This record gives sequence, structure tokens and C-alpha cells, in this order.
Amino acid sequence: MSKLMDEIKQKAALLNKHIVLAEGEEERIIRAAEMIAAKKIARLTLIGNPNVIKAKCPDAKLDGVQIVDPATSPKTKEYAALLYELRKAKGMTLEQAEKLTLDCSYYSVLMIKAGDADGMVSGAVHSTGDTLRPALQIIKTAPGISTVSSCFIMCLPEGSKYGEKDVMVYGDCAVNIDPNEDQLADIAISTAESARTLAGISPRVAMLSFSTKGSAKHDTVTKVQNATRIAHEKAPNLDLDGELQLDAALVPAVASLKAPGSAVAGKANVLIFPDLEAGNIGYKLTQRLGGAEAIGPICQGLAAPVNDLSRGCVAEDVVGVVAVTAVQAGNK
Ligand code: ACO
Repeated sequence: MSKLMDEIKQKAALLNKHIVLAEGEEERIIRAAEMIAAKKIARLTLIGNPNVIKAKCPDAKLDGVQIVDPATSPKTKEYAALLYELRKAKGMTLEQAEKLTLDCSYYSVLMIKAGDADGMVSGAVHSTGDTLRPALQIIKTAPGISTVSSCFIMCLPEGSKYGEKDVMVYGDCAVNIDPNEDQLADIAISTAESARTLAGISPRVAMLSFSTKGSAKHDTVTKVQNATRIAHEKAPNLDLDGELQLDAALVPAVASLKAPGSAVAGKANVLIFPDLEAGNIGYKLTQRLGGAEAIGPICQGLAAPVNDLSRGCVAEDVVGVVAVTAVQAGNK
């Protein structure tokens, strides 16, 4: 496990945030809850039937962990009314809201919306869409941001000449398939924020393309140029530059030829990919060929943190995602 993940867990423990684990009846989640409770990484609520949880892991030590079953909780009625108020303009009926509130993902995000929890983690069983949709509908975006996106923290092999403190942060590699220029600008600003708050680095953001400073002309290049301008307007103090090819972003000698005078070129530590194909391929190349450990995907841009697990995750992965979520909650 990376040094950075250890630091994130320590930070989380100091914050003492309340995180909801929507899939409380899943064995990997129960085992993770035991570890989190033992190390006091966060206060926890498991969503599920207490008898099912007990039967799955009879020996689990869940001292201090709250277990809530939406089917019997006294809060369910209040949360259903809240959901109805939030979604009635979209055509939701009270009856539909009452039914949806029984769903563990909806119940969890409603806890956050009602101020009864700080963040949520799900996705060991549910798909990315089923995990993120309730958050997109109910929690909505953070002030100044219209696009929810994701980043990966790439922990490079020790002593790397790239990034900062052997860390780079990539966005968006998991959510927005073909972002427009406004969405790409939001992705850049949110990824810079994640780099600062989670990775502890001062972001220098490269808006990536197959062109550097007008060397090629194409609609996709224009999109990155416009996103760069919009991001500058929205975050004038952020070190951000584009459009840059990957080598101009990372290699000082190439930067001095292709983007002389840039505050970012040659020393970027945050990479913004023009679309999900590039982002997803880029992080996997760094992971597989570059030997980096990838922390993520980390969801960013929501008004309160919600994170999606990989369905192949193990309990230790869940502990890490809960720690990340708690640290994000500490920065809200
Ligand atoms: N930012 C902000 N709001 C959003 C976003 C976004 N990125 N996406 C959707 N919304 C809002 C919509 O405006 C809508 O709000 P409203 O109902 O209040 O009007 C609500 O969320 C639901 O919108 P849908 O379009 O119905 O959302 P959908 O469920 O189709 O999709 C999702 C959301 C799951 C995030 C989708 O963008 C997606 O599938 N992305 C790709 C995920 C993927 O396959 N990733 C690759 C694998 S992950 C990996 O490899 C690590």
C-alpha cells in the first residue's frame, strides 16, 4: 500500500467524519467496517438488516458502528418526504419517493442530504450508474461546479522524475465520456482541488491534447483550447496551461521547445484528458507499464462526497475509499 494512502487514513482518523456504507449486508463491507472501527478511521453506518449482517459475519466486532434498516427506520418517512420535495418537479410522486427511499443507495444519500451523515461509499455490488445516480439527483454539485467527474491519484514508483512527491493526479478517467469545453474546465478545477486536498500537492494542471499551442488544428483541439480559457476565467489563480501534448506537459526539454515560458509545461503534476477514452487508457498505461499504484476512481465535484467501489474490491480497498471520502468530507 502506498505511503500516501497511509497519510490519507491518518488524516481521516483526525477528522472523525460519519460515512455511510450503503451495502451493509455485503461480507467485504462488514469486514471493512470492522477494520475502520478498530482504527477509528471514521464513524460508520451500515445500511442493512441487522439479522442478515449478524448471520453473514457472526464474529464481526462492530462496536460503535450504527446499523440502519430502511424498512424499519423511524427516519424513512422523513427522508421519503425530503426526496419527494427534491424530485417532484421532475415528476416524482410521493409513492415513488417512498419506494425509492427503501433502496440502500437512495437512503444513504438522503442521510447526507438531511445532515445525518457526511459521505457515502457504495459500488461493491451496485453498478457505477446505480451508485452515482442518486447522488447526482439529490446531493448535486458543489458551488461553482456544474459537472461531477472523477480523478485517479497515481502513486508513481519511488524517486520518479515526474509529478510531485512521486504523485500525479489524472482527470477524468471514469465518469464523463465526451465532456464539452465547460465540462472539461470543471474537470480541471475539480481535479486540481482533489490534488490539493487528497494528494497534498500544489497543482500544476496540463490540459492535454495531441497538439501543443496550436501546432495542430481540429475541433477536438479547439475544445481543449476553449476549456483552458474557461478554466482560467473560473480559477484565475490556478497554475493551468493548454493545450499541451503529454511530452510538453512532462519533459522540461520538450516544454522549452514547444511551450516556452509556460508555468506548467515540463512540470505538470495534474493531467486533464480531453475525453474518457484518453483518460481511461492513460491511467491504465501508467498503472500497468509505469508500475504506478492507482487510487480511485475518486468522485469529485459533488456538494458532499460519494464514492464508487470497484465490484472486484476487497475489504482493504473499501477501507481506503472510506478514508478518501472522509478526507473529502473534511474539505467541504
Ligand atoms: N455531472 C453533474 N450532473 C450529472 C452528470 C455529471 N457528470 N451526469 C448526470 N448528471 C445529472 C443529470 O443532469 C440528471 O439530473 P436531473 O435528474 O436532476 O435532471 C441526473 O444526474 C441523472 O442523469 P442521467 O443522464 O440519467 O444519468 P445516468 O444515470 O445516465 O449517468 C453516469 C450517470 C453513471 C455517471 C454516466 O455518466 C456514466 O455511465 N458514465 C460512464 C461510467 C463508466 O462507464 N465509466 C467507465 C468505467 S469506470 C473505470 O474504469 C474506473
